Amino acid sequence: MKIVVVGGTGTIGRRLAAKLHEHGHLVITAGRTLGDVRVDLTSPESIETMYQQVGAIDAVVSAAAHGPMDDFTTLSRPELIDNMQGKLFGQVDLVLIGQDHVADGASFTLTSGVFADQAWPGVTGGAMISGALHAFVLSAAVELPRTMRINAVSPTMISDSVETFSEYFPGMRPVSMDSLLTDYLSCIHGEQTGEIIRAYG
Ligand SMILES: NC(=O)c1ccc[n+]([C@@H]2O[C@H](COP(=O)([O-])OP(=O)(O)OC[C@H]3O[C@@H](n4cnc5c(N)ncnc54)[C@H](OP(=O)(O)O)[C@@H]3O)[C@@H](O)[C@H]2O)c1
Repeated sequence: MKIVVVGGTGTIGRRLAAKLHEHGHLVITAGRTLGDVRVDLTSPESIETMYQQVGAIDAVVSAAAHGPMDDFTTLSRPELIDNMQGKLFGQVDLVLIGQDHVADGASFTLTSGVFADQAWPGVTGGAMISGALHAFVLSAAVELPRTMRINAVSPTMISDSVETFSEYFPGMRPVSMDSLLTDYLSCIHGEQTGEIIRAYG
């Protein structure tokens, strides 16, 4: 398969790109500052340009952008909307724009996160983003044309990120990167659509 990994130079993306390469796929990494092609998920024009550059592809995987931490006492509508531009609207645009570019039967695999399902201090915006992504995936699965599929992988803190994140999420049990990669592979190689794969360790 010809596969685009958006965020393909990040913590998840670079490991996934390597794994897909091992499986014999042609992998194109896309990132904001690094990668085979450049894309900024906050810009629909940039997403359109990326699709024109890569041509017809069989799978789009996104593991890019973040839902930042926030302070509930000062959280505001502009901050929420600003934080939604990349991870929420960018991934939604990967599908809405991508449906006109990808091959018949192509799959989209998006990345959300555990805070759609688990309350935690300081992550209200991120939780809203992941919850909205889950709802989008359910709807898109019945709307997408030409037998395209869509799923989301919703990770908890990943083993490779414990050093970075455990200060903010003390006591959270991580999911192993190997297990997480298997979840992405199942979305790409399988036949399911409209599923949220909860990779919660
Ligand atoms: N790591 C975890 O423990 C964990 C847990 C749960 C959920 N997640 C979610 O998984 C996703 C990936 O996480 P990660 O840890 O792999 O992140 P990461 O290491 O920070 O990598 C993020 C990747 O996304 C790219 N990116 C950032 N903003 C972008 C934009 N506006 N347009 C295009 N590309 C952009 C980055 O490229 P540049 O470096 O060029 O900006 C980088 O390649 C995120 O949505 C994150 O919230 C991660």
